[in-house]
Amino acid sequence: MFVSTIVVGCITFTGPCKVHPVEYSRTVVFYLLAILLLCICALRKELNMFISLPMILFYVLYVCLIVKGQLDCGAAELGETDYLRLNKDEEGDLVELRDASYRLIDVLGETVEREIATISSADEIADKGNYEHYMLKEIFEQPEALKATLQGRVSEKYVLPEAFGIKAPAIFSKTESVHIVACGTSYHAGLIAKYWLEEWAGVLCQVEVASEYRYRACVVPKNTLFVTISQSGETADTLAALQTAKKSGYLASLVICNVANSSLARASDLVLMTHAGPEIGVASTKAFTTQLAALQLLCISLGRGRGLDRKKEQQLVEALHQLPELCRKTLELSGAIEKIFQPFVDKKHALFLGRGVQFPVALEGALKLKEISYVHAEAYPAGELKHGPLALIDNKMPVIAVAPNNALLEKLKSNLQEVKARGGQLFVFADHDAGFENEPGVTV
Ligand code: M6R
Repeated sequence: MFVSTIVVGCITFTGPCKVHPVEYSRTVVFYLLAILLLCICALRKELNMFISLPMILFYVLYVCLIVKGQLDCGAAELGETDYLRLNKDEEGDLVELRDASYRLIDVLGETVEREIATISSADEIADKGNYEHYMLKEIFEQPEALKATLQGRVSEKYVLPEAFGIKAPAIFSKTESVHIVACGTSYHAGLIAKYWLEEWAGVLCQVEVASEYRYRACVVPKNTLFVTISQSGETADTLAALQTAKKSGYLASLVICNVANSSLARASDLVLMTHAGPEIGVASTKAFTTQLAALQLLCISLGRGRGLDRKKEQQLVEALHQLPELCRKTLELSGAIEKIFQPFVDKKHALFLGRGVQFPVALEGALKLKEISYVHAEAYPAGELKHGPLALIDNKMPVIAVAPNNALLEKLKSNLQEVKARGGQLFVFADHDAGFENEPGVTV
């Protein structure tokens, strides 16, 4: 009896094991042991014990577990550092993830197999190195990521004609306006590009949140290029917006994206990869800055033969070449910034202000603060302050302003005076020559 109980116990516990490398070897050893014990039972004529009532219950349990185990065994293995990229987007497929395995299920609930690429080359495996978390690592990766975005797309002075692929020059030469659609941070990048496209390239541009665009009727001007921006290339609203756009008479579609072979990349006519490397942190950081670099390339490419002459292109490209180094120097300020923002720690609300291209930058700042610190934050174009939001400002309200020394500086300064007059705590990111000084209530 004793021996037969052990035998059934062994089979019961080992039979349904999932096929995982560690469990697999354990399973083999236990099965061998079980067979050995069965042989001993047979020799000792104990086999009749296997048909007693408790044993039958054991068998039922065993069969149930086997069935469940086979379901698990239908799942494929997934290594800790593997990434899965589904090459075919079968509408409605689900991926069931388990400890170390996955299973693909189609809309009918059937287990299916799809073409899958597993990326495991050392440079694509994300590792947070010595950084506390992925987001911090990704922030510090920006200089290298920016270099990668520019590499192979710009010469010393100009953007290469085929930076956006061989089909791009013909499409760009016909483009009369641009419609950018994206979500979240990628949408903010698009808002910034609108300023550049209209100012430098002289190309009309509208920018829209994908979740709005996809549910409204839209008038498409002739020869409009539809541009999506997405780190992942898989954002459902942006993808749906592209599907809608494809039926709406646009000239062509372009995606600026960080994941090769993503759904957006596969569905677009033109693709510009940002090559920022995997972004594991939920908050977009290097994805955002590389999207901006890519959008500058787009503005320059579209500006040729329109608002942008060769001299201006050269200035812009030279500035782009300096970007990684400027970014590296800015990151050196992180310790100082951490100290300056100590008084910020207990705050419950914050207001970000900017003018011109710095307004979408302010929007992005507010989004990052909400997302990372759970602090309520809003962003306004500084000129809008007097139309309502000024009422919120008192000595408990930190106001963060972005103040480059440009044509809008004096306007911005006068808005910031209004903040000071109401006792708001100003934190200003300013150019050295923008004329700001530290003083009570103002941290520069
Ligand atoms: O992958 P996508 O760029 O399409 O994602 C869109 C947004 O979900 C994303 O930008 C989000 O707003 C940021 N991760 C926030 O930091």
